[in-house]
Amino acid sequence: MVGYVDAIAAPLRNTGQVKLHGREGFDGMRKACQLTAQCLDELVDMVKPGVSTNAIDKFVFEYGMDHGAYPATLNYRGYTKSSCTSINHVVCHGIPNEKPLREGDIVNIDVTLVLDGWHGDSSRMYPVGQIKRAAQRLMEVTHEALLLGIAEVQPGARTGAIGQAIQRYAEAERCSVVRDFCGHGLGQLFHDAPNILHYGRAHEGIEMKEGMIFTIEPMINLGRPHVKVLSDGWTAVTRDRSLTAQYEHSVGVTADGCEIFTLSPAGKFAPGLSD
Ligand code: MF3
Ligand code: CO
Ligand code: CO
Repeated sequence: MVGYVDAIAAPLRNTGQVKLHGREGFDGMRKACQLTAQCLDELVDMVKPGVSTNAIDKFVFEYGMDHGAYPATLNYRGYTKSSCTSINHVVCHGIPNEKPLREGDIVNIDVTLVLDGWHGDSSRMYPVGQIKRAAQRLMEVTHEALLLGIAEVQPGARTGAIGQAIQRYAEAERCSVVRDFCGHGLGQLFHDAPNILHYGRAHEGIEMKEGMIFTIEPMINLGRPHVKVLSDGWTAVTRDRSLTAQYEHSVGVTADGCEIFTLSPAGKFAPGLSD
């Protein structure tokens, strides 16, 4: 039986059906995602040795509040922070804390601001001071892998084409693709259908259609692909403690390709990378 509360929530539940959004959805997503991108832009100058991830998280919370937005991760399934901050061998869902960032760290900052009900989900890598060549190369490979995945987005192709492009490139660069986490549909829901795998083959997955909105967020490791989640229930790390990187965009499928909603207005999506 569907109760009153269920009935209200029904249109906002992940039903497994893939929603096709029109003008309203694309306009809403553009605004939410641009706010998230501006927030991530602001962090570029803040990420330095000595700054704690809690200080970064506080900035994200206040940035959201100042702009009429709410961080989707705050009190999401028991998570109590406004961002995820994943350092070095932390794959994703690193929990901000008081520990200062150290020279040579690489940190992924993942922010989802909800504006007028729409979710803008994006993450980037930030170098902390001077970083090692291997770290720089991993960030470059991961960023390029995301762009190659995005280039496959068009109506008629399958979501597997995204995964295939990412996996082919990452493995050709002697890196590995994390299997345990994937991209996801989003819009008025944070995590919705479809799942976007970052590995696989072009004939797999669902057929992309104009109006679909989802994230692509590959996690690429220098070592083996395997991950474990620490006892805090969130922090995912590489089992072999190898370095890992991630970049995330929210995109919408258009008639002839896609719109990247979370592009950096200041051109700072990949701070520290040459491209
Ligand atoms: N922003 C993450 C994503 O890209 C999800 C974080 S959920 C949290 O999907 F609870 F860990 F914050
Ligand atoms: Co996401
Ligand atoms: Co995210």
